[in-house]
Amino acid sequence: MASNPPAGGSEFANFESSLPNRGFGRPFHYFITLESTNSRAMELARQGAPEGTLVLADSQTAGRGRLGRRWLSPAGKSLLFSVVLRPPLPAQSAAQITLVMSLAMANVLRQKNGLNAEIKWPNDILAAGRKVCGLLVEMEGQLDRLDFLVAGVGLNVNQGLEDWPPELKETATSLKQEAGVSLDRAEILRDFLAEAERLYLRLLKGEFSALMREWQALSCMTGRQVRARVAGREILGMAIGLDPDGALQVRLDNGIIQRIVAGDIELIRA
Ligand code: BTN
Repeated sequence: MASNPPAGGSEFANFESSLPNRGFGRPFHYFITLESTNSRAMELARQGAPEGTLVLADSQTAGRGRLGRRWLSPAGKSLLFSVVLRPPLPAQSAAQITLVMSLAMANVLRQKNGLNAEIKWPNDILAAGRKVCGLLVEMEGQLDRLDFLVAGVGLNVNQGLEDWPPELKETATSLKQEAGVSLDRAEILRDFLAEAERLYLRLLKGEFSALMREWQALSCMTGRQVRARVAGREILGMAIGLDPDGALQVRLDNGIIQRIVAGDIELIRA
């Protein structure tokens, strides 16, 4: 399916021309509806789409979340987009990209939108303890070198309490719910693309350790008791940080440090 330029009245009508001449966000593919921006961005990447290619949809019919879950969002209220990346890095660095993208989003929400955003490993952004954004990084390539990677972002922007299904009312929030006003999605997207590109270039320059420290400063987990569910097993301990691959380090009661590469993590309230 080919993308269409956004209609004149859309927030995204002049989006591409408002971006810098090169970098993240170009070329821009806009769709009123898609199955999943990640799926479309992967297809484009397989056909050779350059780094920075942006796929944005106003709604998705089969949005994907982590661990095979669905990502639901009412039309026109979220930012649903994916960016194609071609880092000259091995496959194991994909987790670093997730960290960089989540740090970029947390920075934008804090610095530009005045939100006390925190990062919940590996890919959630929370505001007031509720999920406001999820990231899904998917890749193709060989062990020693990625072909490409797609960073998909679902940010809840203008949803009201009435937009959430009952099971999400307690755990999800939107920027509008937190700020009390509707926000311009195009402006947030522009800010995010600039910040994501800035941090990504720092990663490529070898600054992962510094980025990880910045990430840790915004993590709601460091020093907290957590319960992790990994492949049907439950792990209890204190989250103490990240290792160089971006895995979460949890110190068990017996002092052993367990690496968690993927799984569901719950903060245990003290
Ligand atoms: C998660 O929290 O589990 C990750 C959710 C990621 C959702 C976004 S919405 C845009 C992009 N396209 C998808 O199909 N998924 C991501």
